[in-house]
Amino acid sequence: VHQLADPTVGLEDLLVSPLHLAPEPSQPLPVALFGAQRANSMGVDLSVTSQRQPLLDALPTTPVPVVTETDPAALPAAFERCATAARVWREVPVGERAQALRRSADALEAELPRFCALLVQEAFKTWGDAVAEVREAVDFLRYYAVEAERVMAPIELPGPTGESNTLLLTARGVWVCISPWNFPLAIFAGQVAAALATGNGVLAKPAEQTPAVAQAMVDLLHRHGVPSDVLQLHHGAGETVGAALVAQPGVAGVVFTGSTQVAKIIQRALAAKDGPIVPLIAETGGINAMLVDSTALPEQVADAVVQSAFRSAGQRCSALRLLCVHEVIADGVIEMIRGAARELVVGDPAQLATDVGPVIDREAFDNIERHVARLAREAHDLLPPQALPAEPAHLVPPRMFEVKAVADMTQEIFGPVLHVLRWRGEPEAVIDQINALGYGLTLGIQTRIDSRAQALATRAHVGNVYVNRNIIGAVVGVQPFGGEGLSGTGPKAGGPHYLLRFCAEQTVTVNT
Ligand code: SER
Repeated sequence: VHQLADPTVGLEDLLVSPLHLAPEPSQPLPVALFGAQRANSMGVDLSVTSQRQPLLDALPTTPVPVVTETDPAALPAAFERCATAARVWREVPVGERAQALRRSADALEAELPRFCALLVQEAFKTWGDAVAEVREAVDFLRYYAVEAERVMAPIELPGPTGESNTLLLTARGVWVCISPWNFPLAIFAGQVAAALATGNGVLAKPAEQTPAVAQAMVDLLHRHGVPSDVLQLHHGAGETVGAALVAQPGVAGVVFTGSTQVAKIIQRALAAKDGPIVPLIAETGGINAMLVDSTALPEQVADAVVQSAFRSAGQRCSALRLLCVHEVIADGVIEMIRGAARELVVGDPAQLATDVGPVIDREAFDNIERHVARLAREAHDLLPPQALPAEPAHLVPPRMFEVKAVADMTQEIFGPVLHVLRWRGEPEAVIDQINALGYGLTLGIQTRIDSRAQALATRAHVGNVYVNRNIIGAVVGVQPFGGEGLSGTGPKAGGPHYLLRFCAEQTVTVNT
């Protein structure tokens, strides 16, 4: 908890940390993953304090790229250019496409300060979150490069004498990639890299709130070997440019991260089109819970809760919304969370000491304010708001309210607002109530009974279960990420099955 609030540690921690993932002797870890380091990065290494200054220097010197909105009327011609270029790109050997992504990953790593500065300026990320996000984007580029080489290798299958059978994976065509503002670099890069590595063309639309980070990323990919017609960026609102992209007649697939409501709009639009059935990969929201039983360690719970509910101002789809704590330890746990939350520095994200920056815009701020105002009338206030600086705008203090039932959680509130429920009886019953909400993204379980953790994890309909730790910050290639039900379609980003959805399969049988 203190690490989050203490400016003297944390940043170096994020920059350099020992990687102790032991590769199998026969299967060396194929890729230098930043994030794999992050998984083990809770130790403090202050030996590299020199890395802090390049970040701070980058802030005043990094210009925010100027972007222009696409006229939807121009999209049919843009689509044709992309489709034509993609027919060439799919024939480029997968190793060469992978190399373009690896060169881009190296360049992104080298430009970490500039991209962090953009994330701080445009998305109001804290420095710690910005560094973690650049590293995640690097991981996605490297991971999908390796994965494309693995999954696209032809598979020889058995057959009778005189017959050969081969299973081939090929690109599908032109994908539309629509990405959110909360991870404007990592999720954007992940979607795009997956489609490109598998030989597809891409028409990408970043969130309206964060176009410049995406623009910088696309410029970087173009500089390192991805043809400009193969990967095109189209800025604008979801209702206009996003809808027009999805409506293009030849779209081979759509990958979308955002709200469940918009995912369904896209699904309906695709279903209404003439022509083939178009796949949709949707990663949407969650009403994520943490179940704490009476054997849990209160200090560990408090740390995990503060990280999961308040870090990134609660603007992660993985963030904790509902803490279900056994009544026997509830008072102590709540007191510890309150104490830790009061230590958090809420303010200007450009300051190293800041733990919680502003929420993304006025609309987000108003939504959270309305929700908090209702809770303040109807629920027990467990964490009154701390005093905030006047600037910057749209700061929201961490809040915590006691609710009476899991079913009170009717909508995902994308901010630093934690709901707390005291429970007694059987933990299975609580999991069943969480399942009944219909979402299924992340779940935390805090218990010292191993068999219970396993049983509850199996019972829960969620994509990512975290036992005795926080529930955010899935690491590429280490914790494949994504949910079920109202939380998305799968496959999991950063996992071994993700690229398969971007490919068509072909079996070639030859009578020799
Ligand atoms: N992948 C992020 C996390 O795990 C959320 O999008 O926190």
